[in-house]
Amino acid sequence: MDAAAMKDEVARAALAHVESGMRLGIGTGSTAEAFIRALAGRVSEGLRIVGVPTSERSAKLCGELGIPLATLEDLPELDLTIDGADEVDARLRLIKGGGGALLREKIVAAASARMLVIADASKKVEHLGAFPLPIEVNGFGVLATTLAIEKASAMLGLSGSIRLRMVGDKPFITDGGHLIIDASFGLIPDPEALSAALHAIPGVVEHGLFLGLASSVLLAGPEGVERLG
Ligand code: 5RP
Repeated sequence: MDAAAMKDEVARAALAHVESGMRLGIGTGSTAEAFIRALAGRVSEGLRIVGVPTSERSAKLCGELGIPLATLEDLPELDLTIDGADEVDARLRLIKGGGGALLREKIVAAASARMLVIADASKKVEHLGAFPLPIEVNGFGVLATTLAIEKASAMLGLSGSIRLRMVGDKPFITDGGHLIIDASFGLIPDPEALSAALHAIPGVVEHGLFLGLASSVLLAGPEGVERLG
């Protein structure tokens, strides 16, 4: 089974967790987009949900496919968020933000009673950190913030390249108007300590470590869909 087929399979499996009347956080990325397409099919058959998208990109796709949408201002408490991930460990800790939507994704997940993560089995890891950690930062003083991230991570024994995310020759700009720094630390032995250290840096808006947010994970592999949590 190729990667696209696995995304479609896990997206269909996620539909079993969606009930009529739900207020649904809708994630970002290629797996979340497979879910949006599957969800649109159910909505056209009469499923009643209201979605709160985690990015302009997902909002656009939902709008094109006729999924009713609201904002988090309209619906500040959600029943379930369904979103992808870049890495998942056995304790359901995640790295997210490969698509640059981590801030809204984290706000929406935190406003949800449950977060269901959907991914292909290649995203399951023993230790987080092979995927570069996305860190959303304010554009003001980005160099000072980068140095502060280097110092804080070095205190935790972490080193590696820390790069501003670019699109061609321009910095990537998030939906919130911020920049992304991708930090290739390698394995992160203590994600909670790194999270606290990053949150203590004023220029850091948010980071892609999602700790204690995911309730369950569905992983599609050659043998079918595995559930964690
Ligand atoms: C976007 C994300 C995505 O969920 C993550 O990058 C996974 O994307 P994909 O399903 O395309 O592999 O966090 O910010």
